[in-house]
Amino acid sequence: MSSKLIENLELPCGATLKNRLGKSAMSENMGSPLFVANPSFATLYSRWAAGGAGLLLTGNVMVDSRALGEAKNVVIEKNKVDPQLKSWAEAGKKNGTHIWVQLNHPGKQSPKFLSKEPVAPSAIPLKKPLDRLFATPRALSEEEILEIIERFSYAAKVCQESGFTGVQIHGAHGYLVSQFLSPTHNQRNDQWGGSLENRMRFVTKVYQAIRKEVGHAFPVGIKLNSADFQKGGFTKEDSMAVVKKLSELGMDLIEISGGTYESPAMMGAKVKASTQAREAYFLDYCEEVRKLVSTPLMLTGGFRSLQGMEEALATGACDLVGLGRSIAIQPNFPNELLAGRPVTSLVKPLTTGWKFLDNIFPLEIIWYTNQLHLMGQGKNPDTKRSTLKAVFSFLFAMGKNGFKKVR
Ligand SMILES: Cc1cc2nc3c(=O)[nH]c(=O)nc-3n(C[C@H](O)[C@H](O)[C@H](O)COP(=O)(O)O)c2cc1C
Repeated sequence: MSSKLIENLELPCGATLKNRLGKSAMSENMGSPLFVANPSFATLYSRWAAGGAGLLLTGNVMVDSRALGEAKNVVIEKNKVDPQLKSWAEAGKKNGTHIWVQLNHPGKQSPKFLSKEPVAPSAIPLKKPLDRLFATPRALSEEEILEIIERFSYAAKVCQESGFTGVQIHGAHGYLVSQFLSPTHNQRNDQWGGSLENRMRFVTKVYQAIRKEVGHAFPVGIKLNSADFQKGGFTKEDSMAVVKKLSELGMDLIEISGGTYESPAMMGAKVKASTQAREAYFLDYCEEVRKLVSTPLMLTGGFRSLQGMEEALATGACDLVGLGRSIAIQPNFPNELLAGRPVTSLVKPLTTGWKFLDNIFPLEIIWYTNQLHLMGQGKNPDTKRSTLKAVFSFLFAMGKNGFKKVR
């Protein structure tokens, strides 16, 4: 088969990915109390490593247990030993697969029941109706900013020592790194806010601190928004300038996504029909940014067919195809694509049949997280699983473990 999908990809650090398919990060939300991993992570990632992708990005792992995105996040921080990290890494490395940990700090996107007072670049709340779910944040002091940068680099070092083959900074979807980049959410007037150069200081410092800890031969990537899709927010032009800067600094892989909780373009919401027709939501952006940098680009969001993936790779717009929801219900999807079978994704729009429920709950996240949990228990994903059932089991899990105030 002559498909580009089966070609190796060499990264600037010298590491090689065995093919052009990457599983994008999907938060497992299945950590144990005290925010450590458990054997279900190894079970899930063994399944995915057998599925054929060259790169597995883990779901977001937090760098501070006082700042969680979800109740059952895994956290890597000082004074905490997580004995399951090694077996998780081992499982993900089977068949020559790379497994990188996505490191994240949610900033203000930490729900009220987890953070009474989350932190952010500036004390600006999320807009309505999200302000009901997320408390108004407190602006970080300079000392706290420096401490968070150190937390990222410490966590990266632990990942390397535990056997993971790389790390990815979560710089997208409205979390802390993305909040610093956004002129709407970052209204500081010190060296961390204002001009684009100042707004990108946080991400560049995080990258440089990680690089210092892990060395030049260890893959370090970032997931970045092509734009926030919000008036006055992080624009396409801002994003391109950040890509250029991070490429110059030696970033190994830049994954392109887009959107925030306020405007969830990463899941296909508010994406123009013309864009949807091109399958990958952020393909136009990738084509433009490709002309600026030679750093490997991974494009995530909307890929569903072999043809769509091959076309995106053939034009050179991206070097790696990112797959999220498809791989959550079809763990063998990469093998089938690599074998050239005319397979398509089974991802379809979801509804509970109750509009008000669909509006209240992040249904896509809940339903697909359920699928990850099934695979973590050694079962098969269940594409017929009732969306209502998924919502109820989510509420049950939250009731048992989620509704305790952490800070
Ligand atoms: C259940 C679920 C959890 C997700 N968690 C994360 C995450 O932790 N980090 C991240 O960068 N993106 C996360 N995403 C977004 C995906 O990585 C991806 O960008 C998105 O699903 C679009 O790709 P797709 O159209 O192939 O699904 C998540 C998506 C889903 C469905």
